[in-house]
Amino acid sequence: MSARFFLAQISDTHLRADDGGVAAAQLRKALSQAAEYRCDAILLTGDLANDERPEEYAALAEVIANPPAPLFLMPGNHDDRARIREAFPRHTYLPREGPLSYTVEDFPVRLVAVDQTVPGETHGLFTEQQARWLDKALSKHRKKPALVALHHPPFLTHDLLFDKIGLMEPRRFEKVIAHHPQVTRIICGHHHRVAVGQVAHAPVVVAPSTSWVYGLATGSGQEIAPRTAEQPGWMLHAWVEGSGFASHFLGL
Ligand SMILES: [Fe+2]
Repeated sequence: MSARFFLAQISDTHLRADDGGVAAAQLRKALSQAAEYRCDAILLTGDLANDERPEEYAALAEVIANPPAPLFLMPGNHDDRARIREAFPRHTYLPREGPLSYTVEDFPVRLVAVDQTVPGETHGLFTEQQARWLDKALSKHRKKPALVALHHPPFLTHDLLFDKIGLMEPRRFEKVIAHHPQVTRIICGHHHRVAVGQVAHAPVVVAPSTSWVYGLATGSGQEIAPRTAEQPGWMLHAWVEGSGFASHFLGL
């Protein structure tokens, strides 16, 4: 039988202590759906908390205490690196200092998580140092398929708000990816709605938020983040040896 790897991508959970448990309940639903789909790993792609507060991370720690599969955390622009390290001491894959970038080697697809957040800022930035880190990380196993995860979409979405608070220096990111044909998927969050783009040869999938959806504002004079009918959800990235990835939206 061909090897398979099902990754649940859960993004922008925005856990908070003052919403009557709504964000936590949405995350619980996503985790139980991930269990139903027999996901092999779960990756939270940032904006774990709503306001970087210790009590928000404590609420998250409670919800993810017994995940249905190995679960990995990444920061977003609403997060604080030091507080994440402090609240999740058992997540030993997180580096002890600097950006929370890491690789996971336990699966048929490598997970390469890039922390390109900027402390105190809403936008992201892909620095030269991060470019060197990513190139080195990807160079370790050129033959094994890799999925690269980051918080900010590394392409222009043509949304009036989100392109302003997107990833700075996306061409620097593209240059690294272009050298690594083994990168077969790039995933991110931040936008709170599903979108698909491309960086070099690799398709990029933007996951929805489990908490709330932003509308799409593409024209001048249009309200930013207008009302929208889409529902919150998560992404299932299903990989099978020989045929690669297919990415599915699951609504909550
Ligand atoms: Fe967010």
